[in-house]
Amino acid sequence: MIIAIDGPAASGKGTVARALARHYALPYLDTGLLYRAVAVSLLDNQGDSSRESDALSACDFADSLLSDSRLRSEQTGKLASEISVFPKVRQALIKRQRDFAAQTGGAVLDGRDIGTVIVPDADVKLFITASPEIRAKRRYDELVKNNPDLTYDIILEDIKSRDLRDSSRKEAPLKQAEDADLLDSSLLGIDMAIERAVALVEKQLKTVQG
Ligand code: CDP
Ligand code: CDP
Repeated sequence: MIIAIDGPAASGKGTVARALARHYALPYLDTGLLYRAVAVSLLDNQGDSSRESDALSACDFADSLLSDSRLRSEQTGKLASEISVFPKVRQALIKRQRDFAAQTGGAVLDGRDIGTVIVPDADVKLFITASPEIRAKRRYDELVKNNPDLTYDIILEDIKSRDLRDSSRKEAPLKQAEDADLLDSSLLGIDMAIERAVALVEKQLKTVQG
């Protein structure tokens, strides 16, 4: 069983994806981390985020950075969004994502283009969203502990500009797949969001199994 989960920044897709992976005993891949590792690699190599060739070279060194402490910062998220517009960067990361999805027994993957490009024939597809204000509040609460200078307004601006860049790019833009169910988590606590997600998965599985 392959479960594809997409959605914008801080929509709660990772939280839901991890819970579904536990619930169905499936391995989980956070594909955003791959793009974030390329971004950190670009920084380390002093590459220019507006040059596709620099971003592509950064892919070669990204593997060793998959547990780097800088991965989760909002600056890294922004840089990841900048380099993820490049078709060659996306292409360089496709095989690893598809191989992960194809493993025996299945997998859960989350990102921006999982249900549309990476695994368009996934058994289950969810598109998770929430209002930009709520997402900014969630991200702010997560990051402010280690960054006392951070403000909610900066995070909200970052999230809005990342949403715009991710959904307007030509290659694999952030969008809901036609056959994905929408889950708006704006007014849902984590437990309720997970409960709704499990119900949607069960509904989709019933349809697949006829
Ligand atoms: O993976 P994504 O960036 O979409 O979001 P996440 O890392 O799953 O969630 C971002 C933050 O929002 C985390 O701190 C979650 O605990 C929190 N969250 C929440 O408050 N309510 C939800 N329904 C889902 C997530
Ligand atoms: O956790 P959050 O939702 O803030 O971001 P993420 O999932 O770690 O992704 C960081 C950036 O990588 C996104 O803003 C996208 O530009 C890019 N990305 C992508 O293009 N395709 C994916 N499948 C996953 C991430």
